[in-house]
Amino acid sequence: MSTKCLIASLVLLLVHTSSGQRCNKLSFQRLCVTDGNDLVLENERLSMTINKTKGQIIELYYNSIIDTTIKSTNLVGGGSNYYLANIDVDGKNASVRPYMGNINITQNAELIDIAFISNDTSIWPVYFEFHLVLEKNSSVFYYYSIHKYLRDGYTAGQLRWAIRANMDIFKYYSVDGKRAGTMPLQRDIKSAQTQTVQDWTYMFKDGTVYSKYQQISSNEDINTVFGIYGNRFGLSLLQTHKEWVSGGPFKQDLTTHTGHLLLFHEHSGHYGTPELVPTKGWTKVYGPIGLYFNEGLSLSEMYSDAQRQLREEEKKWPYQFVTAPEYNAQGRGSVSGVLTVDGSPNKEWTYLILTEPHVDDPQFESATYMYSAVAGKNGEFKIPAVRPGTYKLQVIAKGVVGRYIQDNIHVYQKENSDLGTIDWKQETHGELLWQIGVPDRSSAEFKSPPGFPSPIPNLEEYRKFGTWLSYPKTFPNDPDFTVGLSDPAEDWCYFMPTIKTPGFPAQLKLVNVTQNAQPTIWKVRFNYSGSTKGNATLILGFTARVKAGIRALINGEEILEVVDFDGPQGDSALFRQAAHGIFHQQSVTFGLSLLKDKNILELTPAGVVNQNHFDRMMMWDFLRMEVSN
Ligand SMILES: *[C@@H]1O[C@H](CO)[C@@H](O)[C@H](O)[C@H]1NC(C)=O
Ligand SMILES: *[C@@H]1O[C@H](CO)[C@@H](O)[C@H](O)[C@H]1NC(C)=O
Ligand SMILES: *[C@@H]1O[C@H](CO)[C@@H](O)[C@H](O)[C@H]1NC(C)=O
Ligand SMILES: *[C@@H]1O[C@H](CO)[C@@H](O)[C@H](O)[C@H]1NC(C)=O
Ligand SMILES: *[C@@H]1O[C@H](CO)[C@@H](O)[C@H](O)[C@H]1NC(C)=O
Ligand SMILES: *[C@@H]1O[C@H](CO)[C@@H](O)[C@H](O)[C@H]1NC(C)=O
Ligand SMILES: *[C@@H]1O[C@H](CO)[C@@H](O)[C@H](O)[C@H]1NC(C)=O
Ligand SMILES: *[C@@H]1O[C@H](CO)[C@@H](O)[C@H](O)[C@H]1NC(C)=O
Repeated sequence: MSTKCLIASLVLLLVHTSSGQRCNKLSFQRLCVTDGNDLVLENERLSMTINKTKGQIIELYYNSIIDTTIKSTNLVGGGSNYYLANIDVDGKNASVRPYMGNINITQNAELIDIAFISNDTSIWPVYFEFHLVLEKNSSVFYYYSIHKYLRDGYTAGQLRWAIRANMDIFKYYSVDGKRAGTMPLQRDIKSAQTQTVQDWTYMFKDGTVYSKYQQISSNEDINTVFGIYGNRFGLSLLQTHKEWVSGGPFKQDLTTHTGHLLLFHEHSGHYGTPELVPTKGWTKVYGPIGLYFNEGLSLSEMYSDAQRQLREEEKKWPYQFVTAPEYNAQGRGSVSGVLTVDGSPNKEWTYLILTEPHVDDPQFESATYMYSAVAGKNGEFKIPAVRPGTYKLQVIAKGVVGRYIQDNIHVYQKENSDLGTIDWKQETHGELLWQIGVPDRSSAEFKSPPGFPSPIPNLEEYRKFGTWLSYPKTFPNDPDFTVGLSDPAEDWCYFMPTIKTPGFPAQLKLVNVTQNAQPTIWKVRFNYSGSTKGNATLILGFTARVKAGIRALINGEEILEVVDFDGPQGDSALFRQAAHGIFHQQSVTFGLSLLKDKNILELTPAGVVNQNHFDRMMMWDFLRMEVSN
């Protein structure tokens, strides 16, 4: 018997045993599924029609209590819904949509799980299945996927599932409750005499500039909500836990953007995350994520309600409806303890991340799971829902230099591993002489030159296009910072360009700036009255680097030169309007004999600079000098 026949008879059996009735589109009567030309999946709240060949939701209806016209409006009408993978196989790149060969329906009284299985590895060399799950009387449906890699020679740049929604309904979006407003329309962008000032970045006639990167997830957090909304009605994407995220808890990605897209990125290279390069035998479950329908009188009311729903979803994690052994819903353990820094709980955030033992840095990990938690006020933490195994604990905390690492963390099935109190002795090279900025993997605390206004409201300045173009106006002589007098928020720029007029030549025209290819020279002035025996250590924290180099001089003496200082490809956080890309730390120790009562630290690009270096830059996290006698 063919799979299709088997499934057809299975479904018939199920239909007969439930109530004898077929599941009719828009009936909203009960949880049911019908396998005809299309698949129809329904419960009391939702109704969806899925094209079986493509595995796409072609019709989606919501049984609204407030607005009865919504009931019969196709929420993806005029739009679509798709899975897209940008991959590279044996050196050849391609953009592929999976071929949905088989469909497997699992049904019980509580829920229906439909699996679309792509098993034709001539198209995409990965066994792939994605699931849509609907529970009875629920306004949430779930998406998750399972990837299994059966051969060699495959890498993935982007894996994403997207809903292109009905633009007559979903006029608004919310990234984080604050960045929320009217969705920029693709047709407005096309018709409103826009000019493309950068890829995916458009300037309107009124001088405002929109970029889809202004809608990246705000706080690279463990649980997040974003969504698209109508006047009384919304669809929010709930990311309950992010154990699958490439790049760890600081990963930023697109959420919703013009085109009425609601996006779930399983993997992406945005902001410098490396490609996914799995080895044969690799398998990973992405999700589940929840797609939550709600209604309310305002955007903020709907967004708050979605946040409330997220907290409900957290209680259900790991979802017991995922029966794949790879997800291991039944047998997970947890890790708890108390983390202090030099004897006391850290006052600011502390992220605890469990990685596989071989993972040196979560930022560069794409293939495996990482489990994260944020410590509470007293330093107590619990990392929940961890697959049994041996892990490395990696801790990052705001205000603390470096990373705490502890190997051999064992997680056992259905057990909690209590690590007791861990006291992290902060990395130190002596006494702190001065510090500019805070080690927090963000450049947001520094001054941003003004960018162009944007139709996206409540943007931090660094999220605006072209902050770099104003650099020569805000810092005509480059930052000259006096320790004890200057203010990092005013006197230190969040990025350091290589030349005095950063920006692509066409962009400089937008601000009437003539290119000046002189190298930038930044200064930090500080007093010193201690002993000149012993050493000083300068620690530089960067949140992004693009083809940059750096040279440091103390009172004219070179102490550091790094010529080859490029971050990973795609780490263009400045141009992608973010406060960070990939973090990097650089330290240098030098003799205190170089210091005098009054000192100047100069920071400047390494090597010879020329007019083609307009896009070379780095972004600052912090600078710190310590002395030891
Ligand atoms: C499903 O999509 C396929 C491929 O685009 C199309 O040929 C087919 O007509 C669609 N099926 C239905 C029932 O709409
Ligand atoms: C493949 O890579 C080339 C060169 O980077 C690019 O121009 C092309 O658009 C890519 N094709 C796909 C399908 O991604
Ligand atoms: C298909 O569904 C059946 C019944 O729930 C289940 O036993 C089987 O593992 C599923 N197969 C796949 C490939 O998911
Ligand atoms: C995938 O395809 C292979 C070969 O065609 C087959 O042996 C296997 O059973 C299929 N797996 C599933 C889950 O459909
Ligand atoms: C469905 O859920 C709603 C609340 O969301 C509740 O009022 C209603 O009684 C439920 N219906 C059924 C059939 O359980
Ligand atoms: C540095 O020393 C000068 C005197 O040489 C003094 O005026 C200034 O206040 C000192 N700066 C700080 C921050 O103490
Ligand atoms: C640039 O110069 C042109 C022509 O002088 C002027 O119209 C425009 O307002 C200037 N733009 C800016 C940003 O200064
Ligand atoms: C200073 O640095 C030198 C070279 O790294 C090292 O040999 C010396 O022990 C250091 N001195 C102190 C006091 O840390």
